[in-house]
Amino acid sequence: PTIYAITPTYKRWTQKADLTRLGQTLLHVPNFRWIVVEDSNEKTALVTNFLKFSGLQYTHLNAKTDQNYKLKSTDPNWLLPRGVAQRNKGLTWIRKNLSPNINGILYFLDDDNTYSLRVFEEMRSTEVASVWPVGLSGGLKFEGPGKCKDGKVLEWYTAWKPERPFPIDMAGFAVNLKLLFKYSEAEYSNDAPRGYLESHFLTGLKLKRHDMEAKADNCSKVLVWHTRTEKPKMKQEEALIRQGKSSNSEMEV
Ligand code: UGA
Ligand code: MN
Repeated sequence: PTIYAITPTYKRWTQKADLTRLGQTLLHVPNFRWIVVEDSNEKTALVTNFLKFSGLQYTHLNAKTDQNYKLKSTDPNWLLPRGVAQRNKGLTWIRKNLSPNINGILYFLDDDNTYSLRVFEEMRSTEVASVWPVGLSGGLKFEGPGKCKDGKVLEWYTAWKPERPFPIDMAGFAVNLKLLFKYSEAEYSNDAPRGYLESHFLTGLKLKRHDMEAKADNCSKVLVWHTRTEKPKMKQEEALIRQGKSSNSEMEV
């Protein structure tokens, strides 16, 4: 099967660096299409050119987050969910452009996480929906399936809101595309309570915890990490911009 991975992305100082790192990982993944969805009203030149020269098979879309749901730079980042409008745009594209009989796997890739090539091989055999642990997530060494046997999850490992239908991060599951076509309304919601983004989507696909196929050697390996890129200190650049003279407006960074 082909893996279809949806990535929301937004303009910030480290965007191109993050996309470059992830894109070069993805170059090693066979049979893969990257659906990149910009959080913007227009497709930007930076992402357009980045994708053009990436060497990857891709689809480039954009969907701006509604102002009411957009974080301000002073807000703590947990206040509102991120990537909702973008993931939904990608889901709409898949449902419109692919055949319901397609042999494909759906995955949600964030642009700043760290992915082992092995996680893509693990998810490729997903019959309905699969899970694996995510490192550095949920305030723990890892979060998600904690004890598995014969491809089934026996125990979930989580500390925060353990009552969530699925105590897992976005990077910790994949679903077979046939499920997406079967439950054609399932999508992300800006109104899901904090921490329930993944659970809301998976319950929309009528999944229960016991339906999940355990991957990564019966969930004994961490193959994906919820890393986050530090915001660079741009004091001098910002001062120059305030004076109306960026240090070098021609240079794309
Ligand atoms: C965690 C999860 O790993 C995300 O999958 C989840 O969307 C997020 O929490 C959430 O609760 O909404 P975190 O590292 O906190 O991730 O989130 P970000 O990496 O900042 O954002 C997730 C994705 O959305 C990224 O691909 C990012 O580029 C994108 N994003 C972020 C936007 O498209 N627009 C924004 O304004 C912010
Ligand atoms: Mn992140």
